[in-house]
Amino acid sequence: MDARQMKIKAAEAALSHVEDGMRLGIGTGSTAEEFIRLLAERVEGGLRVEGVPTSERTARLCLDLGITLRSLDELPELDLTIDGADEVDPDLNLIKGGGGALLREKIVATASSRMIVIADESKVVDTLGAFKLPIEVNAFGLNATRIAIEKTASRLGLSGAIALRGGAEEPFQTDGGHLILDASFGRIPDADALARALNAIPGVVEHGLFIGVATLAIIAGPTGARSMSARER
Ligand code: A5P
Repeated sequence: MDARQMKIKAAEAALSHVEDGMRLGIGTGSTAEEFIRLLAERVEGGLRVEGVPTSERTARLCLDLGITLRSLDELPELDLTIDGADEVDPDLNLIKGGGGALLREKIVATASSRMIVIADESKVVDTLGAFKLPIEVNAFGLNATRIAIEKTASRLGLSGAIALRGGAEEPFQTDGGHLILDASFGRIPDADALARALNAIPGVVEHGLFIGVATLAIIAGPTGARSMSARER
């Protein structure tokens, strides 16, 4: 099974959690897109769902494929969000934002009763941090915010390059018009503490640490998909 087939397996398994009449948060990224394609087939077959997309890119694909969309203001409480992730730890804490949609992804997932993460085995880690942590920031005071992030990380024993996504010449812009700093902290032993500390920095709009948001992960490997719940603490 190649990487794409594994994403499809995870997406298929997630689809079995979708019920008629649901209000769905719809994720962003290549794995979420496999889910969207499968969902569209079910919608064509008569399944009725209303979706809230987590990015403009996801919105375009859903509309192209005939999935009914609503804004989060129209549907502020959702039944289920299905989305990919860049890393998943045994507590179902995540790093997200590789595709730059972390802010809307977090708002939508948090407005949902449940969030199911779909991913292949390569995304499962013991400790978050090998993937660069995306931090969405306001363009105003970029350097001051970067320094504040460095100091905050240092207080937690973390260090590493913090790079502006896309570079200074052509910085990547999020759907909300913000910038992204990708932080190479390496292993993050206390992701919860880092998450709270980053949220306390004024120029930080949001970060890619999703702590306690996912309720289930569906992980696909070469032999098929398995469900992963948060470990007992
Ligand atoms: C988008 O901003 C991200 O959070 C994606 O969900 C994440 O990067 C996973 O993407 P893939 O499914 O493409 O690996």
